[in-house]
Amino acid sequence: MKDSIAVIGTGMMGGAIIKSLKKSGCSNKIIAADIRPKRLQELEKMGILTTANNLEAASNSDIIFISVKPSDIGNVLKTIKTEVDGKLVISVAATVPLNFLKKFIPKAKIVRIMPNVAALVQASYTAYCCGENVNQKDKKRVIELLNFLGICEEVDEKYMDAITALSGSGPGYLSIIIESLMYAGLKVGLPRTIALNSSAQTVLGTGKLVLDLQEHPAKIKDMVTTPGGTTIEAIYELEGSQIRQALMNAVEAATKKSQLIREKLNV
Ligand SMILES: NC(=O)c1ccc[n+]([C@@H]2O[C@H](COP(=O)([O-])OP(=O)(O)OC[C@H]3O[C@@H](n4cnc5c(N)ncnc54)[C@H](OP(=O)(O)O)[C@@H]3O)[C@@H](O)[C@H]2O)c1
Repeated sequence: MKDSIAVIGTGMMGGAIIKSLKKSGCSNKIIAADIRPKRLQELEKMGILTTANNLEAASNSDIIFISVKPSDIGNVLKTIKTEVDGKLVISVAATVPLNFLKKFIPKAKIVRIMPNVAALVQASYTAYCCGENVNQKDKKRVIELLNFLGICEEVDEKYMDAITALSGSGPGYLSIIIESLMYAGLKVGLPRTIALNSSAQTVLGTGKLVLDLQEHPAKIKDMVTTPGGTTIEAIYELEGSQIRQALMNAVEAATKKSQLIREKLNV
């Protein structure tokens, strides 16, 4: 018998998780819960079971994803606490630590994850960390689900702020890079669609090269840099810019913000 899955909160990330599970062939029963009827109607059209009642969703499921904003998570946990003992509860909420979640649902098996929006196209990098009562068998069940969203990796919880800043928010930074490359294409006379497709696919392909070949990015850079050729002209320009420092500063600022939000949440 396969685990049945509830997803509570079906906005950007909860919706991406549901769509990705369906699209990638996950045949487990899925039930979606949200306070916004319009969100549920859209999912019903895709054949997903829905409810406006979080407790009902939790009681009918073995694994419960919670994908509401960090400020709403306490309320959701209070509502479902009687129905989650011994079940896997997977929190998607940025900044909210395992210890905080455990206060509300001490007998649940809690997993905290940080995916990114690329889950929509089964290309998320999802970091996860587990409460102490999550055993190897539970982890296998979690990994099986997270693999439907892209790739996943277990991390120590102390890295979650940095992960949130790097890969959780990362699609935002890389969109700026793709947009910049697209404009560069326009500047050198490419039609708009060709400029956009070639930029986006090149970012995607470069990531795939690093991952599939398990090569350092510097090696990929060397692979395309012919002495006296075109690439070195461009790299020379880039090295004179502040691009590396800008990205490092951006991720550091987002990491600090993640820490600050937790302090403000008082968790
Ligand atoms: N978006 C990302 O790229 C991303 C990446 C990684 C992690 N996350 C995390 O994922 C979580 C969800 O983010 P999101 O961007 O998907 O937010 P979102 O689009 O606002 O979705 C949250 C949904 O949950 C609903 N909701 C609020 N209170 C609820 C309750 N008590 N019961 C059931 N549903 C409730 C919201 O309704 P209302 O809109 O009416 O409040 C909304 O439909 C956050 O904790 C965030 O930190 C997001």
